[in-house]
Amino acid sequence: MAAILGRAGTTATGGFRRHHQETSRGGRRRDAVVVAAVTGAAPQEGSLERPAWSGETPVSRLVAALIAFKPLYSLMKLASREVIIRTAEKSNIPWREMTRKVLESDVYEVFERIRDPNIIYPDYYLSPFHAYDEGNLSWLAAAEAEAATLSIAKRAIPEATSIEEANQIVRGNWMNAIEEHHLKYSGENCQINDILDIGCSVGVSTRYLAERFPSAKAVGLDLSPYFLAVAAQKEEQLCRQNPIRWVNANGEATGLPPNSFDVVSLAYVHL
Ligand SMILES: C[S@@+](CC[C@H](N)C(=O)[O-])C[C@H]1O[C@@H](n2cnc3c(N)ncnc32)[C@H](O)[C@@H]1O
Repeated sequence: MAAILGRAGTTATGGFRRHHQETSRGGRRRDAVVVAAVTGAAPQEGSLERPAWSGETPVSRLVAALIAFKPLYSLMKLASREVIIRTAEKSNIPWREMTRKVLESDVYEVFERIRDPNIIYPDYYLSPFHAYDEGNLSWLAAAEAEAATLSIAKRAIPEATSIEEANQIVRGNWMNAIEEHHLKYSGENCQINDILDIGCSVGVSTRYLAERFPSAKAVGLDLSPYFLAVAAQKEEQLCRQNPIRWVNANGEATGLPPNSFDVVSLAYVHL
């Protein structure tokens, strides 16, 4: 995947970074679309202690000093979790109820079927992330991921009057970007038959893709077997014409055959 992105031409439009893959081999995958949704400023290269946009103000220095003091950091994490959950619930996202349902489901059996026990995780993936000590490799992170995703959409579009509206805007823009790009580069007659969603998390983005392109076969790929188990468990309850396939792998070395997808999407995945 890294190689594909490396070769691809890149244009940025309305918060979306698009990679147009031109392979030299021809065939129907010649114009596969790679669309990456990025949330913040332009990506930076090199080893930075912190992103340049994060600034170096007295307040940021104070926060960094407080965070460095472990017992205080644990308290701050607890308090900020509480705020995040309460804010989501005030916006009608039943965070605790959604989490409980996942944790009390048969997701653990699905996990055993879906995980690749031979996967080698990159170092960054083994670090604490979003206040979860095990990062994305934990049941709590997986169980809370859908509520967190909904909550982020509302924060991104504060003027939206509901969570549904915020999601329609966020996901609608992304879908439209894919369709526009596909029309522009592949033409009306080129059908989207196979879609790969890299960094699919608990499958929210994959389900949007599968619903927009119901005749296509969609694959959701993620490093976290916990997230994929939540995605797969939900999918098993739906009767989709083409059920989504879930793959536990590293997006940088998927092991999937080259040129086998018409659309490759990375939605809200840090590049
Ligand atoms: C913010 S979530 C993406 C959300 C999802 N695409 C959506 O739009 O709702 C980022 C995901 O990228 C996954 N991820 C991070 N590094 C990865 C890698 N190298 N290969 C595959 N997945 C990765 C994480 O496990 C996480 O689920």
